[in-house]
Amino acid sequence: MIRSPHIASLLVLGALAAFSSNAAAAECKATIDSTDAMQFTTKALTVPKSCKTFTVTLKHVGKLPATVMGHNLVLGKTADIAGIAADGMKAGAAVQYVKPGDARVIASSKVIGGGQSTTVTIPVGKLKAGESYTYACTFPGHSSIMRGTLTVK
Ligand code: CO
Repeated sequence: MIRSPHIASLLVLGALAAFSSNAAAAECKATIDSTDAMQFTTKALTVPKSCKTFTVTLKHVGKLPATVMGHNLVLGKTADIAGIAADGMKAGAAVQYVKPGDARVIASSKVIGGGQSTTVTIPVGKLKAGESYTYACTFPGHSSIMRGTLTVK
């Protein structure tokens, strides 16, 4: 009888702890892990409006090479991300699967493989509160699964 409310309150405490550690780190950076299972471990980012830039460190915590399980992080409006990914795939590996000069791309990293990491700097001044943004991996076949939302607050 006591047991489940107790577990529930532990879960609430855990959630609060995670929330407050994020809030305390109201800093202008975040780390996102990516895996051999074609996943970003973080599916949503909130960027404080007060940041000039927001730096995302993308880590590939898997073992597969970039040619097989490459990951990048490309940010655009949610409405644009499918087009960005389709054109990036056509543009190819030599340009990190991002079409050169693509005005829809707000920020993009290079492609990394297992054990590697990279950073991408997001110009927060170009983002609008209330707009829906999505970050995705534009490696062929990844963008429909490897994606997350980005919100400015
Ligand atoms: Co990927």
